[in-house]
Amino acid sequence: MKFIHLTDTHVVGTGLLYGQDPAKRLSCAVASINAEHGDADFVIVTGDMTHWGDADAYARFATEIAKLKIPIHLMVGNHDDTPSLMHTFPDLPRDENGFVQQAIDTAHGRFLLLDTKAPKGHAGAYCEARRDWLARQLELPGPVYLFMHHPPFEVGIKAMDAIMMRDAEAFHDVIAPHKHSILNLFFGHVHRAIWGTWRGISYSCMRGLNHQVALDLDTPAEQIGGNFEPPAYGVVLLQDDQVTVHLHDFADKSHSFPL
Ligand SMILES: [Fe+2]
Repeated sequence: MKFIHLTDTHVVGTGLLYGQDPAKRLSCAVASINAEHGDADFVIVTGDMTHWGDADAYARFATEIAKLKIPIHLMVGNHDDTPSLMHTFPDLPRDENGFVQQAIDTAHGRFLLLDTKAPKGHAGAYCEARRDWLARQLELPGPVYLFMHHPPFEVGIKAMDAIMMRDAEAFHDVIAPHKHSILNLFFGHVHRAIWGTWRGISYSCMRGLNHQVALDLDTPAEQIGGNFEPPAYGVVLLQDDQVTVHLHDFADKSHSFPL
């Protein structure tokens, strides 16, 4: 099984963002997915579809994403606005409390798409109501793949660590009894390619499409350094006993050649 991990498209309604056009970059990513990975089962977007959460931006996002030839599943990030998102995508599944989280059953296990958006601010949250939903999902047969916008742990970049998901210990308490069945935790938010393990759970994060967070481990938390390292999306391969995450530099135009 193959699926695509796309994140942090940051589309704006009009004009540019940091001098770049996020909708144009999304359009290039969609064209690449259709041309190179049209056989994938679906695309999961781990949040921050728009930069300002306005209706015009969601409309532009919807126009570009509609060109995808495979299904898409959306999640919310700190830059999203849930009511505005729901206005554009009224059929987007939500839990019984209205949080944008859902379970997707596949031939290789259950995909749990979590809503880590806090009511205010850029840090993430995972309140008791959401934890109750997750606990019920984890009681069902696995294996399980977790998808979140905010990571529930630090990654070493101070400005991003300051806006990681709060409630991390309570979240960990919920997932701890099920670690054996959690095969990977996919997240966005940090706009970088990052891999590792957290308390025994493997994780991966993808670059954004418009702008990236600089690999700066020294600057104080008050400043987020950005740059224009190339955009990318993840190509994820699942087998019965393995998860493989490829980072695809889809904008790279260098020619392949025999090695
Ligand atoms: Fe983002």
